[in-house]
Amino acid sequence: MDDQPVGIFDSGVGGLSVLQHIHQLLPNENLLYVADSGHAPYGCRDEAYIEQRSRIITEYLLAQGAKVIVIACNTATASIIETFRQQYGIPFIGVEPGIKPAIAFTKNNKIGVMATSGTISSERYKDLSLRYTKSISLYNQSCPGLADQVEAGLLDTPETFLLLEKYLSRLLSRQVDTIVLGCTHYSFLSVPIKAIICDSIELVDTSRAIAEQLLRVLAQEFMAKKSGAGNVQYLTTGSIEKTQVTMSRLLKRNVVVKRLV
Ligand code: DGL
Repeated sequence: MDDQPVGIFDSGVGGLSVLQHIHQLLPNENLLYVADSGHAPYGCRDEAYIEQRSRIITEYLLAQGAKVIVIACNTATASIIETFRQQYGIPFIGVEPGIKPAIAFTKNNKIGVMATSGTISSERYKDLSLRYTKSISLYNQSCPGLADQVEAGLLDTPETFLLLEKYLSRLLSRQVDTIVLGCTHYSFLSVPIKAIICDSIELVDTSRAIAEQLLRVLAQEFMAKKSGAGNVQYLTTGSIEKTQVTMSRLLKRNVVVKRLV
């Protein structure tokens, strides 16, 4: 199991927010990250398309010997994780909006969730939110265009700020005191988001918790026992040049990206 990589994928670069924590927590593991940038965003696609793309990437990762797959995308997790857990013989770890941790923070029981329309309209998310709506008021905000800004590396442009103001003002008008980042791309926007919302509002990001969950799963039998540092490979189905620039910017170091057709 030592050299078998942990496969990680997202519609694009958003899942790097999860990869960063995984790399920090599990430095010995080989990581293989696929950004499906050639087909992003997933948030406005139908489930059949997301399943088809996720299957192609999953089967690529399995062919590379992945021992565990992290679906670092809320939208894809919502569509396919249960099916894939049944169909493929390895563990899958997914990401979903952190409503449960948000409940631990909220004082007025008003929680806002920023996510893609695909996540918000999925059966999995509806089931998750129904579990809690007796005790809290949940305000879902889909954020078209926001993942594209991150995908293009435009974290602090006026356009990104305007989009954030538009979506956040709807949540703020509901007096939410806690906001869940329900899309892995949005983690990279926490600085401009914090500049718009007031300090007393809690921002919930589950990317660290996903890495901890991976650690628990690996600890059962899959953890690399070698002492040397693991290697991290980045692949994209989109433009190598653009993805390389965006990934290096998000990770704050130069990375080499290869092409996955
Ligand atoms: N990063 C993805 C998520 O967590 C979605 C972005 C997109 O492709 O729309 O939901």
